[in-house]
Amino acid sequence: MKYINIDLKDYIGTITINRPEALNAMNKDLVAELKQSVEGCIENKEVGVIVITGSGEKAFIAGADIKSMQKMSGRQALEFSREGQEMTMVIENSPKPVIAAINGFALGGGCEIALACDMRIASDNAKLSQPEVALGIIPGWGGTQRLPRLIGKGRAIEMIAGGAMVDAKEALRIGLVNHVVPQSELMVKVQFLAKSILKNGPAAVGAALKCIHQGYDQHLENGLDLELNAFAELFETDEQREGTTAFVEKRKPNFRS
Ligand code: CAA
Repeated sequence: MKYINIDLKDYIGTITINRPEALNAMNKDLVAELKQSVEGCIENKEVGVIVITGSGEKAFIAGADIKSMQKMSGRQALEFSREGQEMTMVIENSPKPVIAAINGFALGGGCEIALACDMRIASDNAKLSQPEVALGIIPGWGGTQRLPRLIGKGRAIEMIAGGAMVDAKEALRIGLVNHVVPQSELMVKVQFLAKSILKNGPAAVGAALKCIHQGYDQHLENGLDLELNAFAELFETDEQREGTTAFVEKRKPNFRS
């Protein structure tokens, strides 16, 4: 891959966007590479948690590549938006938890990629924003839909219509990120969270994510239906037998042998 490094260690697949000369801004190639990288981690049995981060200490992702958008026609923009949305759907639908390690600017499409992740951990220098309207466009990779769902309509409208940058402290206050840590401790915190997930049953974690994501916009009863079916299906797995038996035998479960 041209712009992405993938590191696999201890069941954590870390995808690093590496285009520092453009603050990791996402052109078409990078959108395709990120989608492919996440799909690869989903398929890889050696990966249990996926982390997305940016190279360097300044930017997570400074958005879609503005230079490549400057002369786009409406038709090309439709395609670029669709490709970006598809990439964010691969992230959101991943049965393996995806953590955004936000190591600096997460702007426009960068913020939208973070929104598609299951959790967002920010370093104290991080700044998040949906500044598209300043360019005469709007968020095109899910920002108008995922941001209100995460932080509420009023705050999302303020961020999207105003375009102002939100610093890490404010992002934590409004629920845009889960945790804020000093930059030097960002990956330590992310790995701690990843390890706390990795000790649990992978099929159970995947089923819980599916119920939460798919049930979120549905009527409560439909969501409960999803949950009961997923709950019952897990009782047909070795994982459920191992987890409950380990409890009864007073030992740690072994889900990954
Ligand atoms: N696209 C293309 N190049 C970008 C970029 C982007 N989104 N963001 C930064 N860069 C490039 C700059 O052009 C510059 O390259 P050159 O030296 O070749 O000109 C390099 O990265 C360094 O950037 P700056 O010199 O601007 O660095 P700075 O520290 O002065 O400012 C910044 C940093 C505040 C992040 C500023 O770069 C900035 O505002 N970037 C644009 C952010 C933005 O508007 N993002 C939204 C894009 S639209 C979008 O994402 C649509 C969507 O929903 C899919």
